[in-house]
Amino acid sequence: MSFLLIGDLSQSTLDPAGHGAAQIADLFHWMLGGGVLIWLIVVGLAVYSVVVPGGHRPRLTKTLVIGGGAVFPTLVLTSLLCYALAMLPELHRPPPDASLTIDVSGVRWWWRVGYRTGENQRVETANEIRLPVDQPVEFKLTSEDVIHSFWIPALGGKVDMIPGRETRLKLHPNRVGTYRGVCAEYCGTAHAQMAFDVVVMSQADFEQWLRSQQRDASEPSGPAATAGRELFHRKGCGACHTIRGTDAGGRVGPDLTHFGSRLSLGAAIKPNDANHLRRWISRTHDVKPGVQMPAFERLNQDELDSIVAYLEQLN
Ligand code: CUA
Repeated sequence: MSFLLIGDLSQSTLDPAGHGAAQIADLFHWMLGGGVLIWLIVVGLAVYSVVVPGGHRPRLTKTLVIGGGAVFPTLVLTSLLCYALAMLPELHRPPPDASLTIDVSGVRWWWRVGYRTGENQRVETANEIRLPVDQPVEFKLTSEDVIHSFWIPALGGKVDMIPGRETRLKLHPNRVGTYRGVCAEYCGTAHAQMAFDVVVMSQADFEQWLRSQQRDASEPSGPAATAGRELFHRKGCGACHTIRGTDAGGRVGPDLTHFGSRLSLGAAIKPNDANHLRRWISRTHDVKPGVQMPAFERLNQDELDSIVAYLEQLN
């Protein structure tokens, strides 16, 4: 299905781009090795007992059964358990006090993302998370409806998002790049279409990006985009969406203040370009069955083009 294949975003736990993820990948490889070893020995003994004809010497049999079937697996599994437990303190250690904190809440079927930019100040975006490289970051996670699960496979472990409760996750990306995050807990119709983009950037690029997000929406330029803004308000889009600096202040759907700067739309299921946006607005439920946004099927071609021009300009 095409939504799984936007660009070539990595979402592999075996291609780690963060400290926690690297430890988890190491653990996987050791467990795989241990599992294969146990399998080979146990199956080897089983084959040996069937294939080699005649009676087996009782002492040898006892040694093989107890040694190969019990002692060896116990030793291997115990070592793996100790290795895994030794990782926990490091993975669970809270990040330093001054670390970047990002609030993310799961909503059927998208992500509300808030950056704390100062005392009681917050800038909101959606379905895209940008992070500075080589900095620990703490996510404070919650849900606005049902249980979701926040997972960026290339950066680390996953944590459930539970209504009425705040869970936390520390990540420490160490490689610049674009990764894919997903919802890892079945949450209804569009669960499989609840993803997000994660962009790990240099510190300087990140700061510049965060400053740009704090600004209000840019004024539309050109007649199409200006008409688009008018239409956006007239059709009531502002009841659900916020565009800072305009009258649109809805909280039900994603904040669109800098929509044009985002990589994808519909919670990372389609590339963010004019064609996909046109289809998203007019055929919403074909693109993402179950989505709460009503489809605006009755917009004529000009109206659709204007709204698209306006939204794509919101950089
Ligand atoms: Cu949200 Cu699955």
